[in-house]
Amino acid sequence: MDSMESFSWALLAIVISLLVLKLLNYSHGRKKLPPGPRPWPLIGNLNLIGPLPHQSLHKLSQTYGKLMYLKFGSTPVVVASSPDMAKQFLRTHDRVFASRPLTAAGKYTTYNYHDLTWAPYGPYWSQARKIYLNELFSGSRLDSFEYIRVEEMQTFISRLHKLSGDSIVLKDQFSLTNLSVISRMVWGRKYFSESRDEKEIVTLEEFQEMLDELFLLNGVLNIGDWIPWLRFLDLQGYVKRMKALSKRFDRFHDHVFEEHRARMKAEGEGFVAKDMVDLLLKLADDPNLEVKLGSDGVKGLTQDLIAGGTDTASTTVEWAMSELIRQPHLLKKATDELDSVIGRERWVQETDFPNLPFIDSILKETMRLHPVAVLLAPHLALEDCIVEGYDIAKGTTVFINTWSIGRDSDIWDEPQTFRPERFLGSVMDVKGQHFELLPFGSGRRMCPGYNLGLKMMRSLLGNLLHGFNWSLPGNMTIKDIDMQEVYGLSTQRKFPLVVVPKPRLANHLYN
Ligand code: HEM
Repeated sequence: MDSMESFSWALLAIVISLLVLKLLNYSHGRKKLPPGPRPWPLIGNLNLIGPLPHQSLHKLSQTYGKLMYLKFGSTPVVVASSPDMAKQFLRTHDRVFASRPLTAAGKYTTYNYHDLTWAPYGPYWSQARKIYLNELFSGSRLDSFEYIRVEEMQTFISRLHKLSGDSIVLKDQFSLTNLSVISRMVWGRKYFSESRDEKEIVTLEEFQEMLDELFLLNGVLNIGDWIPWLRFLDLQGYVKRMKALSKRFDRFHDHVFEEHRARMKAEGEGFVAKDMVDLLLKLADDPNLEVKLGSDGVKGLTQDLIAGGTDTASTTVEWAMSELIRQPHLLKKATDELDSVIGRERWVQETDFPNLPFIDSILKETMRLHPVAVLLAPHLALEDCIVEGYDIAKGTTVFINTWSIGRDSDIWDEPQTFRPERFLGSVMDVKGQHFELLPFGSGRRMCPGYNLGLKMMRSLLGNLLHGFNWSLPGNMTIKDIDMQEVYGLSTQRKFPLVVVPKPRLANHLYN
């Protein structure tokens, strides 16, 4: 063996030893991750995620299981697709997973995370949440706003009555009603003009367009969120749109605040807060508040209420009506219940809800098959944590796939069938205690507006069914109703439901 050859062997031996050492070291320090597909460099597993991410993840979970690990770009992601796994994140380790990833949407459309939905877990979030729960969503506050819901419901019914016999896009009608209710609760009045005679800062169409853009941009898969070093390129152009939208909202909020501040000043000591903006502006001036709210906080928090409260409820009721129209015997069963409990001489009121179990079951069944927040809102691990024996690292994004849980044949009998009767006599509710049905989430980040959302949905659905018979336009048949979805902040129908209303009750009740 010449000296050159022995040198090469020695070099090879050193390289192999180093490799073995590295490997040993690696496997020693390696984390035990939940099962999942092998990621590609750069994109991770994004190649497996289609335009309906919840459905892609549902399919993957059938191969990899109810707790699954993926990479979205360079970001670690864990997906829970069973009630037990959801419970691990939302109850057992609730605090660890109570934060949110810092998305571009949160930064640019909600005042640098100064809202509730995107706020990281911490003192700002907990103070804001306390304000929401104690001041706006307390039982007494919700009751005090009942007259607004009653007035807007009456307006809704009269509007529909005028459209009797016409083909209407049903959701447009709900959206206006929900938006009106929330606007009056939050801002004291509507700041959009519904007709040419009114001169508000925006028209209803403009405002609806701003909201649609807000929902869209808060629901998109923005590449820069998952592959941070590509962020500066804004490949999909979403960040540019977010910045433009935020300017439009900012002008709007400034206008609303000016009017509110003027009243505050004029009334001086005698000023009494009448709506959420009054209340938040007062709190913003409060020197004793633990964390300063500032005007960004007031804007972010009011905007969250509008965003959280309008589209969610409308989308759910639209899904409910789509399912019912496909099964006329369910419509009949619902109207039988309404006729026997309410009679034909009045409208459904909030106090009637406990006596309408079938209407309630229809909504539960709708939220099982069509939860609007199909993946809830993303949760973020604040610390390393072991879940079901697997290591979940700090900084992991967690999705709870409620869409998948609603279709699990281990939990539900004939899961694909819309059958509200399955909930009759069942103790299962939607308040975060039953992990099989989580339309509002559960635990610390659970929807704070669920009570208001339920009131609005029950009253909309109850009165739609009580006041009108529904048919499809022209030659359309039940088979033509396309039930495809589009993914977003709320996952809605790809094709809006178009229907024809005909009054069911005596004429004098509609005006
Ligand atoms: C049908 C009606 C509604 C549904 C299905 C719904 C659903 C949800 C879901 C799934 C979450 C996320 C839970 C999680 O991250 O684990 C959420 C959060 C939230 N919802 Fe709702 N919601 C509805 C109505 C409302 C209403 C009426 C409001 C306010 C007016 C509202 C305001 C919020 C806010 C501010 C959050 C963020 C809470 C936080 O991060 O701490 N929602 N909602």
